[in-house]
Amino acid sequence: MKNKFLFIFIAILLLGIGGYSTLNGKVVDENKISITVYKSPDCGCCVGDIAYLKNKGFEVNTIMTEDMLDIKDEHNIPRNMQSCHTAIIGNYFVEGHVPIEAITKLLTEQPDIDGITLPGMPAGTPGMPGTKSGPWVVYGLKDGKVSDFLTI
Ligand code: CU
Ligand code: CU
Repeated sequence: MKNKFLFIFIAILLLGIGGYSTLNGKVVDENKISITVYKSPDCGCCVGDIAYLKNKGFEVNTIMTEDMLDIKDEHNIPRNMQSCHTAIIGNYFVEGHVPIEAITKLLTEQPDIDGITLPGMPAGTPGMPGTKSGPWVVYGLKDGKVSDFLTI
């Protein structure tokens, strides 16, 4: 019995070395914030946004699903507030091609909302081709209710 505890202790010690630990058998760098992105297999623009998030230092876990509407319903994201892919960071969702400024604001201020969204797929946003042609209004959502979050 004593040996078992010693083994567990050493195992925890080893796993903690270098800021790495294992989560579901995968090695996770604890210095990186993990983000889970739900996307449809048919959609390509999300791939560009995933590359953008990785480039900004996030640990991205991509989940392919045909049931994107279920994900949006689960998080009370009204139809007019939806985009293509839905990301989850901690307790928040991040809907669509949201620039890093808004994600950073969300993570640092930790507001009492369910998540943020940049509806549609405006040109020039992370992962989207084209150039910015007007302000990008990122909204906050709480129980499906909309508030202004950040205009970029
Ligand atoms: Cu998109
Ligand atoms: Cu997409």
